Amino acid sequence: MNGFVKMGNVIILGSQWGDEGKGKIVDLFSARFDIVARYQGGHNAGHTVVVGDKKFVLKLIPSGILHAGKKAVIGNGLVIDPAALLGEIDALESAGVEVRGNLFISNRAHVLFPVHRMMEKLSEARPGRVSIGTTSRGIGPCYEDKMGRRGIRIADLLNPGIFRAQYDSVMEEKVVIAKALGIYEEMDLKSIRDEYEAFAARIRPMVRDTSMLLNQAIRDGKTVLFEGAQGTMLDIDHGTYPFVTSSSASAGGACTGTGVAPTRISGVIGVSKAYITRVGGGPFPTEALDATGDMIRKRGNEFGAVTGRPRRCGWFDVPLLRYTAAINGFDSLVVTKLDVLDELESIPVCTGYRSGTHEVAEMPPTVAEIEKVEPVYEYVPGWRAATFGVSSYDDLPEKAKAYVAFLESRTGVEVGCISTGPERNQTIVRPGSRFEKLVGQRNSG
Ligand code: GDP
Ligand code: IMO
Ligand code: MG
Repeated sequence: MNGFVKMGNVIILGSQWGDEGKGKIVDLFSARFDIVARYQGGHNAGHTVVVGDKKFVLKLIPSGILHAGKKAVIGNGLVIDPAALLGEIDALESAGVEVRGNLFISNRAHVLFPVHRMMEKLSEARPGRVSIGTTSRGIGPCYEDKMGRRGIRIADLLNPGIFRAQYDSVMEEKVVIAKALGIYEEMDLKSIRDEYEAFAARIRPMVRDTSMLLNQAIRDGKTVLFEGAQGTMLDIDHGTYPFVTSSSASAGGACTGTGVAPTRISGVIGVSKAYITRVGGGPFPTEALDATGDMIRKRGNEFGAVTGRPRRCGWFDVPLLRYTAAINGFDSLVVTKLDVLDELESIPVCTGYRSGTHEVAEMPPTVAEIEKVEPVYEYVPGWRAATFGVSSYDDLPEKAKAYVAFLESRTGVEVGCISTGPERNQTIVRPGSRFEKLVGQRNSG
């Protein structure tokens, strides 16, 4: 990344339903920042980074950790399963990545317990409830405890006196509820408590007031890249509720989830596939349930990085992108997986929503209304040539450039970066774009 000077603090987040390729993009551009900070979610996230012949799937740890010496922060907005976190640290360290010394964990992040996975059966397996198709990691119930003001935070976990009393009281309540609702499963709560006390000892050296750490770093002239998990359409407020995750995946979440003010953020970048996917239940206007959908799943290897579930595949959805661009104020868009469309003769792009004879101008707020929406397609000619690995815009086939230009003109957002493969060097940054200005500007010299 020589030849670039550092700019301000930037948020990179998902503009669709997750799995847009955020991990690859954050990893690549974290080289130009000092600190990478995650601001929400938990180990429901799976961010894949390919470096040479090594593949890493990051769940709780920011993707920037793979660059030697970069600092990584797990912000207060996350829910942390300590077993998952320590497992991830061990796996990275055994692959030669230096984690301890570079990773800082917020003392205000919430702690996820096995009992949260048990409580998830309330939303996923109880008769009469529509299953969301969660990742079954206990994420929703842990955020419920946070908002219910009975959550246990990392700072509490580190204080044995406080932790024991809090833990016993919260668990007692859970057992009563689980038994009453018939979802109780036998668990040895005392030995889980002992286990968490052992986790606390291992986590302690990494725990900080990360809000103060980030703000001090910014005052010292250092730059922060904020990494979103999930995507805007899975955001608890702005997504396809209730088929969403339980956190604020959109740009506002970066401030509440780290304690860094909006006045310190220079820009927001959305990551989008050249098409679209979703895992789990919920409305999906442009879903392709035919052979082309299967072809995308195969070529794009669209299987969940966390659960292995096949991802539902569909066509680029302009109204959806315009909606998420408005909510996040995207300065620039990264379009990933362009190569997956290489073989198509004609590429459908949904450029509008209709309901009967009416145009649907805004993203409807309810699942029932979104399910009724009929996508209006325009067909863009395919390029039928290999773009896999192309790293310069000029080397793209003219029709691939035209597809990108079409997305830009319909969404109203610049496409400043294009990804043509999972590896770092399979990436195009468009010279003179806002993207280039935000993630690092070329030195004049
Ligand atoms: P994230 O959750 O947004 O980080 O995305 P995931 O890692 O869950 O899913 C993206 C998948 O696509 C991963 O397997 C990446 O290695 C892969 N990937 C990322 N960018 C590209 C690309 O431009 N082309 C191809 N073919 N694969 C890509
Ligand atoms: P990354 O960060 C795609 C989906 C689940 C389910 C819904 C709620 O890799 O993009 P949860 O376990 O969070 O309560 O599940 O959200 N989901 C994701 N889909 N990518 C993710 O993360 C996701 N994290 C959660 O499939 O539909
Ligand atoms: Mg993912």
